[in-house]
Amino acid sequence: MNLNHKRQRILFTGGASLLAYLWANARDNQNDILLLEHQRKITKGSWPIKRFALDDSDKLAGFMDEQEVDIVVNTAALTNVEQCEKEPDLAAYVNTKLSGIISKTCFNLGIKLIHISTDHLYGLEQRCFTEDNSTALLNVYSRTKFAGEEEVLAANPSSLVCRTNFFGNGPTYRPSFSDKIIKSLQEKADITLFTDVVFSPVLGSKLAEYAHKLSAYGCCGIYNISSDDCMSKYDFGLLLARCKGLSTEQIKAGTFAARRDLVKRPTAMALSNKKAAEVLGHPLGTISEHIQLL
Ligand SMILES: NC(=O)c1ccc[n+]([C@@H]2O[C@H](COP(=O)([O-])OP(=O)(O)OC[C@H]3O[C@@H](n4cnc5c(N)ncnc54)[C@H](OP(=O)(O)O)[C@@H]3O)[C@@H](O)[C@H]2O)c1
Repeated sequence: MNLNHKRQRILFTGGASLLAYLWANARDNQNDILLLEHQRKITKGSWPIKRFALDDSDKLAGFMDEQEVDIVVNTAALTNVEQCEKEPDLAAYVNTKLSGIISKTCFNLGIKLIHISTDHLYGLEQRCFTEDNSTALLNVYSRTKFAGEEEVLAANPSSLVCRTNFFGNGPTYRPSFSDKIIKSLQEKADITLFTDVVFSPVLGSKLAEYAHKLSAYGCCGIYNISSDDCMSKYDFGLLLARCKGLSTEQIKAGTFAARRDLVKRPTAMALSNKKAAEVLGHPLGTISEHIQLL
């Protein structure tokens, strides 16, 4: 064992995000963790936290250099689809411009960037999408996230861009989709889940594990990190409830198609993980397997 081996230090931009919390917990044993806060207070975990604006690239570079950061995981984003539609300039600033600044800063310092993208980039035709399939960008969130991928790779082609969707035990300040379902069922409150929205989510800790492995293999460019199968959000709720020994009675079937009040979204969000699985040399796991690990 090499006792001089330095633990790699990960900096999370968007440190108060759900994903930063899940990822930091998953990597706490192997890595040093640093979190960058924006507005929301990080009230769980004991990792060092710093707060400054990400568009100050000199400050960002100075901080990364001083802290000897090895890897940046960019989870900073405007993720509320309704808010993105109402505030397209802010969405473009956070999802696109800041992503480019972070990527350029990493490039200048020779730091590896893992940039988190989304499964929200396709359309309505139900199939499993590969990294090469053409996109159907239906709203401001998807357009600004896709443009963010382009900015990241233009500034630093050796970045790893992960298209994904995830769940896990989130912090109280940012519950996950699975947290919301479990809470509703525990409180015996009805929850309506869409039967016409299909996705292929992974457990946040598995996303972290796979992304670090891909990064260690020197992978760059776009990789889908998803489960091996896909299902509707309604079926996900049923599966989660059964795995957790909770009654499914409160889970009500609804459709996105009936929700005229919501911003237009893709209903086909299943990603093919073939490219990542080939590099990793094993399947990434089914949704059921990931839920069992929750
Ligand atoms: N959640 C999902 O199910 C899901 C699915 C697919 C892909 N993704 C992607 O995964 C990543 C993480 O998602 P998440 O749901 O974990 O995120 P999240 O909980 O919504 O958090 C996003 C973070 O970005 C920060 N942020 C927003 N504006 C910022 C700014 N101007 N400067 C610096 N930081 C800013 C927020 O800080 P403040 O709160 O303090 O403003 C927050 O910490 C995102 O890239 C998202 O697109 C998420």
